[in-house]
Amino acid sequence: MDIKNTVTKKGAFSVSDKDISSAVINRLPRYYRYLGDLLDNDVVRISSKELSEKMHVTASQIRQDLNNFGGFGQQGYGYNVEYLYNEIAKILGLDRKYDMVIVGAGNIGQAIAGYTDFEKRGFKVKRIFDINPTLFGQTIRGILIDDVANLEDYIKDNNITIAALTLPKNQAVTMANNLVKWGIKGIWNFAPIDLRLPSNVKVETVHLSDSLMRLSYNIREMEEDKDV
Ligand code: NAI
Repeated sequence: MDIKNTVTKKGAFSVSDKDISSAVINRLPRYYRYLGDLLDNDVVRISSKELSEKMHVTASQIRQDLNNFGGFGQQGYGYNVEYLYNEIAKILGLDRKYDMVIVGAGNIGQAIAGYTDFEKRGFKVKRIFDINPTLFGQTIRGILIDDVANLEDYIKDNNITIAALTLPKNQAVTMANNLVKWGIKGIWNFAPIDLRLPSNVKVETVHLSDSLMRLSYNIREMEEDKDV
């Protein structure tokens, strides 16, 4: 039996994303990363048991997660790695390209601009904007730092979908509201503030310090367990 036909017939997108828990959506990038590594190592197929051992999650968790989108697996065969990788890419919206700007060319803005892996995933940083004239005209990895006064026109003229917000907290809300007005669809927010925006704009906030606090919690728990 042809696995592609089998899984396609099941209909990967028969369930609307709204019905799927955010916990499942949060796990998908991790599946995608692992499958990408397997592909890089020329692995053609993998059982849910093997995948579960690699990822340290249960095989039934993997099956349950993927069943939300129609399954993709086949009894006795497991998963076709490339097919599953591509299907998860589609679910994550990675089968298209996103043009992006960075607003705030400080430490974080420059670090993001300098990182090439986002581009490999289809997120292309087209330009960086800042308010500080001493930065105008400089480039990072060939990407120009421009005057934030030109941001509105640049977004409108270049069909920019995503803006990374890497400016001070006290500038973030005003800037985010402007970005919404100018047609941005997604904000990748690094400023330490929760943005409340209309539902036609998606916000993903990154808090490195939350991750550090989880680390400190786990260290504390581990140390307390040792004391018992
Ligand atoms: P930074 O001070 O190095 O850079 C901020 C840049 O924004 C500066 O170049 C400044 O000229 C520019 N800027 C200020 N107002 C602007 C405006 N209205 N329009 C355009 N550009 C403007 O700051 P850094 O270290 O890069 O941090 C950026 C933001 O990220 C801050 O809000 C900081 O609190 C936050 N942050 C977030 C972390 C996270 O885990 N999400 C971790 C560390 C910092």
